[in-house]
Amino acid sequence: MSIADKVTRTLAELGTDPAALYSELGELFDGELRQAGAPEDVKHLRDRWLGRKQGLLTAANDHWLKAAGREIKPAVGKLQNTLKTRIEQAMEAASGRTQTARAEPPLDITLPGPVRIIGARHPVGIVLDEIEEIFRSMGYSVYEGPEIESDYYNFEALNFPEHHPARDAMDTIFLTDRMLLRTHTSPCQIRIMEKQRPPLRYIVPGKVYRHDAPDASHSPMFHQVEGFAVDEKISFCDLKGTLDHFLKRLFGPTVRTRFRASFFPFTEPSAEVDVSCIFCGGSGCRVCKHTGFIEVLGCGMIDPAVYGYVGYDPERYSGFAFGMGVDRVAMLRYDINDIQLLFQGDARFLSQFR
Ligand code: PHE
Repeated sequence: MSIADKVTRTLAELGTDPAALYSELGELFDGELRQAGAPEDVKHLRDRWLGRKQGLLTAANDHWLKAAGREIKPAVGKLQNTLKTRIEQAMEAASGRTQTARAEPPLDITLPGPVRIIGARHPVGIVLDEIEEIFRSMGYSVYEGPEIESDYYNFEALNFPEHHPARDAMDTIFLTDRMLLRTHTSPCQIRIMEKQRPPLRYIVPGKVYRHDAPDASHSPMFHQVEGFAVDEKISFCDLKGTLDHFLKRLFGPTVRTRFRASFFPFTEPSAEVDVSCIFCGGSGCRVCKHTGFIEVLGCGMIDPAVYGYVGYDPERYSGFAFGMGVDRVAMLRYDINDIQLLFQGDARFLSQFR
C-alpha cells in the first residue's frame, strides 16, 4: 500500500509506528518538491498537500491524528505539526523561487517609454493666431463680439437700407424678426465705434453664419477676421499699404496684391483684394482657375453714412475697414480641398496640423 493510500486509514488499522509513517510521508513530499520547477507545479503541489479537502497532510490530520488514541495523541500531534511546518516553509521558499524566475529581467531601462498622444492645433486656430500676431505688431487690438446680433448692428447701422437687395445677398439666418446670427464680423465696427473715440485700430476674429447648403466650398458657419482703423487723415493709401504688408507677411514676401473695385454698403470706395496664386506664382493653375490670382479680402473706406450712426464727425475722421475669410486662408495654406473637413472633427484629419 502506498503512503498516499495509508493516509486514508487510521493508525490502528495500519498498525505501524507513527514516526515511520510521518517520515515516509515527508520523503514523498521531498521527492515531489524536487520535481516541481514551474510555478504551476508549485501550485499543484500546494493543493495536493495542503488543500483543505483532498490535501495529503489534511488527510493525515483527519485519519491519523484525530483518530489516534489518547496515549499516543500528543506524540502524533507533534509529528503532524513538524511535518506541516516543514511543508509550509518549503512551499513558501519554492513559490518565491519560481516568482523571481518568472519576473526576470526585473526592469529593462533600455525599453522605449509609452507613447502618449498629444493633441493637435486646429488649422483655423493656427491661421487666426498668425493673423492676430501680424496685426498686434502693427498696433491693433483684438475685440470679440456676439454671434447673435440684432438687425440694427448687422445691417441698419452698416448702411444696408431696409428692403435693399444687399441684405438678400447675405443669406441671413433669422432667429426672430429682429434677431439673427451675424452674417459677418462688421457689426463689431459699430459696437466698438459707439463706445470709443478715434484713434481706433481693431481686428475682430469670429464665427459668422449664412444660410448656405454645405458643399466643398460652403459651410453655414465659417470664420472671418474684421479689421478697421479710424483716425484723422486716414486715406486709401493707408488701406493699401496695410493690407499689402499684411498679405505679404501671411503668404510670403513674393506675393503680389491686386485691388479690384467692388461694392459694400458700409464702405465707399470699396474693393476686393486678390493675391497672386501661392501655388503657381501667378502663371495659372487649378487652384486659381488659371487666373493667376486668388481673392482673399473685401475692403474699403468706411462710408461717412456709418459715422452718422455712431456720432463721429465725418469731416474730421476717416478710416478703412476690411474683412477676410479665415477658413479659405487655412485651406490655401494647407492645400485642403473641402471646407467640410474643417468642421467634422475627424481626429485623423485634425491630427496632421501641429
Ligand atoms: N463684411 C463683408 C463681408 O462679409 C466684408 C467687408 C468687411 C467688406 C469690411 C468691407 C469692409 O462680405
